[in-house]
Amino acid sequence: MGVVVVAAGSGTRLGASRPKAFVELRGATILEHALRGVLESAPGELAVVVPEELVGEAQQILARLDLAGTRASVVAGGAERSDSVNAGLRALTDASRHVLVHDAARCLTPVAVFERVLAALRAGAEGVVPGVPVVDTIKVVDASGHIVSTPLRKSLRAVQTPQGFARDVLAAAHAAGAAATDDAALVEALGYAVLVVEGDERALKVTTPDDLARAERLLAGA
Ligand code: C5P
Repeated sequence: MGVVVVAAGSGTRLGASRPKAFVELRGATILEHALRGVLESAPGELAVVVPEELVGEAQQILARLDLAGTRASVVAGGAERSDSVNAGLRALTDASRHVLVHDAARCLTPVAVFERVLAALRAGAEGVVPGVPVVDTIKVVDASGHIVSTPLRKSLRAVQTPQGFARDVLAAAHAAGAAATDDAALVEALGYAVLVVEGDERALKVTTPDDLARAERLLAGA
């Protein structure tokens, strides 16, 4: 199995002076926490996608980690998340039948989430994403702000990463060239079935200073 970790976003909503994945969280960068979690799932290969000017720093982070036989590389990302995923996909060999795409910003994702996604892929799913029920009622609105519809709350899931796919399915979805905020949307658009498995509150995406504080509390076990 191959894993693409995307960490090339600027993270402007966090308001830090460095790209988000390189911000410190209790003594290690967000990227380092994320990579430790990914390596617990023992991938055969790993592509880490970072801003071009930080490729060297990411290589130093990887050098400090116990790769335990994982073939790892660092590549520069692109302007959109899907450009970064594409760059990571190109860095993987053809050896991996399954590929997981993971946001570095979800740096505390428990290994059990990786295992659930992989188990469903190995059981034959074309696409698998972790998700959690939503607590708010969600409205679809039009450009003028008026409500168009109210989806049934119990049918909604907030989806997380790692998102896993048969490698050829993900490559076809990205070759179609559309942009999306997650990979599943590209795969769904091609008509493939994507299964949602149980996510985890600890797989939160660190986006705002509040999220960073919450991640700090989770790490401290508070
Ligand atoms: O911006 P967003 O919250 O969707 O970012 C999710 C993940 O995608 C983050 O880990 C971020 O570093 C990554 N990303 C990327 N390249 C971009 C934009 C986002 O690798 N151009």
